[in-house]
Amino acid sequence: MTSLHFASTNRNKSMEVNSILSQYGVFIKLSNINLTEIQSDSIKDIALEKSKSAFQSIAEPVIVEDDGLFIDELNGFPGQYSSYVLKTIGTEGILELLSKIKNRSASFKSCVAYYDGKTSKSFEGEIKGNISKGCILNGWGYDPIFIPNGTSLTFGQLQIQNVKEKFSHRAKALKVFVNWYDRFVKHS
Ligand code: IMP
Repeated sequence: MTSLHFASTNRNKSMEVNSILSQYGVFIKLSNINLTEIQSDSIKDIALEKSKSAFQSIAEPVIVEDDGLFIDELNGFPGQYSSYVLKTIGTEGILELLSKIKNRSASFKSCVAYYDGKTSKSFEGEIKGNISKGCILNGWGYDPIFIPNGTSLTFGQLQIQNVKEKFSHRAKALKVFVNWYDRFVKHS
């Protein structure tokens, strides 16, 4: 069993990360700190920079996680701007943008970044799916409008049934992280 800092101010995300990592025997120490977010086209670069900024405050090995919803017909929008777009036009605004568009395919991407002062690594996870036609009022963030492939339910509805992790971009990225971290910890 190991423990590791996770830096985030998002309570929902932290609960999901905690639930996923604890299944692999990694327990998180939550650091509720606001991190500077650089302007970049890549969620990987944003996550890597955030992990360095988190390490400056915590001075212990830390992971952060960054996400983006990429809608195909909108050329990947909102992508790295997902957080800002949710705060401004919200899920209703996204549905409005897609109101005349047939192809509603999208993907949710996650990037987990680790930094311990020396080693800097990132791990990615992705789930493809579709944007729902209406807003099904369950869950946080884009959960009410994202339907992952392999089910007809939104992330929000899957969360209620406790099975969001089977599909989630976050669970995929964290799994790749844990595979690496287990070997890294054993050899250091
Ligand atoms: P961030 O990387 O945490 O800033 O995530 C970007 C945006 O995507 C934020 O508005 C989050 O609320 C949203 N988001 C990230 N992960 C999820 C998820 O699993 N479900 C729904 N929304 C999410």
